[in-house]
Amino acid sequence: MYLPAASRYSNPAIYRRCGRSGLKLPLISLGLWHNFGGADSYENARAIVRRAFDLGITHFDLANNYGPPPGSAEESFGRMLRTDFVHHRDELILSTKAGYDMWPGPYGDFGSRKYLLASLDQSLRRMGVDYVDIFYHHRPDPDTPLEETMGALAQAVRSGKALYVGISNYDHAQTARALTLLRDLGTPCLIHQPRFSMLDRWPEADLLPLLEQAGVGCIPFSPLAKGLLTNRYFNGIPADSRAGHDPRFLRPEHVTDAVLARTRQLDEIARARGQTLAQMALAWLLNRPAVTSTLIGASKPSQIDDCAGAVANLQFASGELAEIEQILAS
Ligand SMILES: NC(=O)c1ccc[n+]([C@@H]2O[C@H](COP(=O)([O-])OP(=O)(O)OC[C@H]3O[C@@H](n4cnc5c(N)ncnc54)[C@H](OP(=O)(O)O)[C@@H]3O)[C@@H](O)[C@H]2O)c1
Repeated sequence: MYLPAASRYSNPAIYRRCGRSGLKLPLISLGLWHNFGGADSYENARAIVRRAFDLGITHFDLANNYGPPPGSAEESFGRMLRTDFVHHRDELILSTKAGYDMWPGPYGDFGSRKYLLASLDQSLRRMGVDYVDIFYHHRPDPDTPLEETMGALAQAVRSGKALYVGISNYDHAQTARALTLLRDLGTPCLIHQPRFSMLDRWPEADLLPLLEQAGVGCIPFSPLAKGLLTNRYFNGIPADSRAGHDPRFLRPEHVTDAVLARTRQLDEIARARGQTLAQMALAWLLNRPAVTSTLIGASKPSQIDDCAGAVANLQFASGELAEIEQILAS
């Protein structure tokens, strides 16, 4: 029997308004891309989610294809909802997405109305909920008219199956068009989910100013560069790390000497600030007004504790920022 910590809302400063919407999100949100599938330990996954909620992390991010196998992260999370969170649905922000390959044939991928609405129904069934809080288009579709894809998102809201909509992996031009279409449909875009970290800064130049000006929130995914922006690899590649055991998206050859040289220097600045490297990497993103929340992953509850500690120091002296710039440019 799980009783959430009574202290979980003791720090209201850890919530930030998402763009110009009425919705507040925690500064740290938890994604269930890795370590929450049918092939992973359910008890460990459950311990991570419980720890997050105990710390006031109310936002959990999923997608139709998270697993492996695809769909199983939503099933595992649905199991937790039915057991641990049955009385807490109204305290949770659940997001899911459709856009990547999910089922065989021409209707299980990309951005058609047919795919998006069928996928949302499947996600609701897997999680055992009547609605999700945020439904995203997971990636742009070069072949489907954007009007159709955005129309499907708006339909998801009108049908009551989603409260808000978002887009992910859209570039600046695609985002500008999507925001206009969604506004015209009466379902303004709540949030954009781009990949963004100290090691991958593509959204900085154009996307962030656009989102800020349009009043749309931003939730960077992989803010720790899948673990590279932590102390995980300072003493080799641990067998239980992502690079050590799951070669799908982070392989040992990505943990290069050049990356380690930079992250060790960043770690020194973090220590001087009284933070871990993970905490500083998150604070560096949250230091920007355009960023609403950071979307982390975790393989153990202690990582949630560490990341949640980032909010204790989000300010940077100009000298610190300059030093970080120098390291990142080297
Ligand atoms: N929209 C999209 O296309 C898209 C794409 C990718 C991800 N996402 C979303 O973003 C979420 C996060 O992505 P991500 O998992 O790549 O994010 P990340 O936060 O960059 O990396 C998470 C990994 O970093 C390590 N880690 C986390 N906290 C740590 C700490 N305090 N100390 C040491 N190591 C730590 C863990 O690696 P170990 O496993 O090695 O312990 C963890 O699995 C996903 O779950 C998903 O919801 C969205």
